[in-house]
Amino acid sequence: MDSARSPIRTICCIGAGYVGGPTMAVIADRCPHIQVTVVDLNVERIDAWNDPDLARLPVYEPGLDAVVGRARGRNLHFTTEVDGAIAAADMVFLSVNTPTKTRGVGAGQASDLRWIEASARQVAAVARGHTIVVEKSTLPVRTAEAVKAILGAAQQNGSGPANGETKTFSVLSNPEFLAEGTAIGDLESPDRVLIGGEDASAIECLAGIYATWVPDERILRTNLWSSELSKLTANAYLAQRISSINSIAALCEATGADVREVGRAIGTDSRIGSRFLQAGPGFGGSCFQKDILNLVYLCRHYGLEEVAAYWEQVVTLNTWQQDRIARMVVQRLFGTITGKRLAVLGFAFKADTNDTREAPAIRICRELIEEGARLVIVDPKVSSAQIAADLGQPPSAAEGGWQVAASPLEAATGADAVLILTEWREYARLDWDAIGAVMRRPAWLFDARAIADADAARAAGLNVWRVGEG
Ligand code: UDX
Ligand code: UDX
Repeated sequence: MDSARSPIRTICCIGAGYVGGPTMAVIADRCPHIQVTVVDLNVERIDAWNDPDLARLPVYEPGLDAVVGRARGRNLHFTTEVDGAIAAADMVFLSVNTPTKTRGVGAGQASDLRWIEASARQVAAVARGHTIVVEKSTLPVRTAEAVKAILGAAQQNGSGPANGETKTFSVLSNPEFLAEGTAIGDLESPDRVLIGGEDASAIECLAGIYATWVPDERILRTNLWSSELSKLTANAYLAQRISSINSIAALCEATGADVREVGRAIGTDSRIGSRFLQAGPGFGGSCFQKDILNLVYLCRHYGLEEVAAYWEQVVTLNTWQQDRIARMVVQRLFGTITGKRLAVLGFAFKADTNDTREAPAIRICRELIEEGARLVIVDPKVSSAQIAADLGQPPSAAEGGWQVAASPLEAATGADAVLILTEWREYARLDWDAIGAVMRRPAWLFDARAIADADAARAAGLNVWRVGEG
């Protein structure tokens, strides 16, 4: 079915975040005949999505400004008027955040579903006629059951409009696989679109929307539970690859091997594949840790202790990698960094995003601050206010404090070390002669992303540590 045959004409998406915003922008861009309204409780966020200056959208993604520029005001709308948008919609996407619970049963592992539940209740209360409800957020397996129960109660109550109109619902799972920094490319040309559900006609309504630009063989249809579990599994597999290569990086450093050579050697095996083999400071981002912990919680819930312990180790190794890097910096700087100025290049959890959720830089910086360092942080996209929120303290020039600088050169001035924590492309082209000239000697480069020109840094007189290089 192509989109002209899909009966869907109005979409509402609850949650204007990193997933909801770009996903709806691409649907609106590709389907001009569908009115897409993205709603959010956060007024500032909605205002930012409506900012006439496309450089100020709340999510930084290469190419997103052009997509929003084409569709906004035509068939893409951002508003805080949640009820009206739900009532008008043929299809409602739930794209609210599902963080790890911080208290109560399952604290530290289970997903906090309060916003999913609240959104489902709101849909139950105000939807009209037949509405297809699509889970876009990553959710524990069998969440759709809860969503269906909430919607089903509204159906039975007949709490529909007074004119006696009945309301009915179908629930689908349609997890998002986009990666930040490449979201627009991932959405425009996805490896696959996954749709889980029980109602074949609802599945085809959603498939018909994607079929406007995605070849049908890439649109996979499964049952609800397979779809929910596939998303958790995909993230667990990807994260596991990173922990695996980081564990080998430590062994490379100890033995004189080079993790990039090992990565190339194993990556040419088509069964292994070459992607996701970059050693680094550990994975960050809003999904990997949260989804694995969620998987671990589910396994324990079903009595699968060995399976839970197996996946839990992926997170343990990731935290260890971050601690290991912080400890190694202290050790190489003669066992003390108290009062020393350290330049930190990159704070985002990866390049090409302003997102810092679970960024390895947060843990590493906190540990260096704890040791009394004076950090000077630079990131091309992350604001000073965001860094303050993540580090839990305002900027200060004192020992155990942090400040921002406008450029790597300014950050490095008077510093004993430069730490690269995010692989921004510009860090591959740093002028090490200039940087070396303004640092205090002996000076160090700690390159946790192995992106800098290490030979140039050595030639400029710096000692160099690169992740995974023995
Ligand atoms: C997404 C997914 O939905 C999450 O499950 C996945 O694991 C990570 O990616 P994301 O878009 O990154 O979340 O989250 P975020 O940027 O926090 O956006 C969620 C938005 O929902 C926020 O803007 C928040 O204000 C909004 N929200 C939340 C509502 O509008 N209503 C609510 O009840 C709760
Ligand atoms: C991930 C999944 O890729 C995506 O499919 C899912 O929808 C959301 O979670 P994202 O978190 O945006 O996407 O970024 P990703 O590119 O997967 O990187 C995650 C983390 O792993 C980053 O901190 C990145 O620096 C790190 N990473 C990635 C490595 O350290 N080495 C690699 O080889 C790849």
